[in-house]
Amino acid sequence: MTDRVAIFDTTLRDGEQAAGTRLGRREKLTIARQLARLGVDVIEAGYPNSSPEDFAAVEAIAQEMDGPVVCALSRAVASDIESCGRALAQAKRGRIHTGIGVSEIHIRGKFGDDKYGKTVEEKKARMIAMAVEAVKLARSFVDDVEFYAEDAGRAEPAYLFEMLYAAIEAGATVVNIPDTTGYAMPEQYGALIRGIRENVSNIGKAVISVHCHNDLGLATANTLAGVKAGARQVEGTINGIGERAGNAALEEVVMALRTRADYFGLTTGIRTQEFSRSSRLVSDMLGMMVPGNKAIVGRNAFAHSSGIHVDGFLKNRETYEIMRPEDVGFEQSSVVLTARTGRHGLRDRLEKLGYALSQEELDQTYQRFLIVADKKQEVFDEDLVAILHDEIHAVEDVYRLDYLHFYSGTSAIPTATVRLSVKGVMHERAATGDGPVDAVYKAISMVAQRVVKLVKYDIRAVTGGTEAMGEVTVKLESEGRSVTGRGASTDVIEASAKAYVDGLNRLAGLGAA
Ligand code: KIV
Ligand code: ZN
Repeated sequence: MTDRVAIFDTTLRDGEQAAGTRLGRREKLTIARQLARLGVDVIEAGYPNSSPEDFAAVEAIAQEMDGPVVCALSRAVASDIESCGRALAQAKRGRIHTGIGVSEIHIRGKFGDDKYGKTVEEKKARMIAMAVEAVKLARSFVDDVEFYAEDAGRAEPAYLFEMLYAAIEAGATVVNIPDTTGYAMPEQYGALIRGIRENVSNIGKAVISVHCHNDLGLATANTLAGVKAGARQVEGTINGIGERAGNAALEEVVMALRTRADYFGLTTGIRTQEFSRSSRLVSDMLGMMVPGNKAIVGRNAFAHSSGIHVDGFLKNRETYEIMRPEDVGFEQSSVVLTARTGRHGLRDRLEKLGYALSQEELDQTYQRFLIVADKKQEVFDEDLVAILHDEIHAVEDVYRLDYLHFYSGTSAIPTATVRLSVKGVMHERAATGDGPVDAVYKAISMVAQRVVKLVKYDIRAVTGGTEAMGEVTVKLESEGRSVTGRGASTDVIEASAKAYVDGLNRLAGLGAA
């Protein structure tokens, strides 16, 4: 048996069956190109007989792909198989994936009609005959035929073995053992694969493929158990998308095989550095967000936050990481600053931002950091810089915003009135502008009587929802000096005014305003 595991990607077929998703021909082609870059062995491009659009997508992918095998799905029905044959006609390497249900629930439910036989035994015999006919018909179009025994995870093993034997005799080159409903436990699924190897006498003529669903959160575990038991093709999707709770996530399976090569002793042809990009592309195309804690490709998969972890990670990455972020396409690990991040993590981040603080300054900053961190889930670099500005690099207020009124609308000229205290003396000015922020900045500049250039203006929501706190950062330049001013408020115009006034105070502190 080979020690290479073939990777069969079904993002474009089973993955696309996820509730509420639909991919057109162009989107499928874009994803298929990325899957080829990722190095998958087989791309299951769709189910051609399901719709003209899916037919066109499979056809286009089959025409273009050079490396991976392009596979098309069918039921054990002649019209489905003929449709696959036509869609794959131009494929350099085409595969038809055909099959039939094998569990009693499927047999009674889908083949309940008397035309398939009056008793379950008669139906079972009829279904084996249908499977054989389907594989033979598929072989008349392509040399590579994969047979799936749907709901194998709940099937009676003896019947499954009989079905697989017949399919292989009919010409199947790969036999797929789907745990269609995600019912199996890892030990059971592993035993099923082992049972197939021991009881299907012609199994040496076919590759065993594992196809696991995630209804109990066991898709990856079951897939790996199947591989350990001798399967040499793995089916799954990027990000684990698919029917109901989804399919096995290929990034998880492949990285488990790679990270635990000591345990599995197996390889794949996957360029794992392409995982992050593949994940983002699939997520964007299908509009399905990847959870932050998703293994391998989630935003937090290489993020450290608690003091103990950050400390250990900074001393030696391997203390808390079993994979390198670069190996799956992330630039680097990250330390997320939260209320649980200790002084060590804070000092490290400040140093990376270019601030070397004394112990006393660090203690002072840390206390303020804790107050901010208790209010927010995550403290960003911008927050740290703001804390430092307040705590360590605080300036005396020459200008203080006392009053702000603005008027704006779709058919009104934006107008602002501001009252500023300048060294304790009140001044009031009004101005119009190209938008309310511009009007406010013009009125403040009239009070300050300074030529100040606004070089940069950034706004971001600090909290969620329509009542979000907005934080404005401005970069101001005057007389060859530049400063950063900050302001926060639930009113973004007020936050903008505060940031501008803060910048003016900093310029004044440098003797430039
Ligand atoms: O889960 C399943 O049984 C399938 C087959 C159609 C291969 O997706
Ligand atoms: Zn499936």
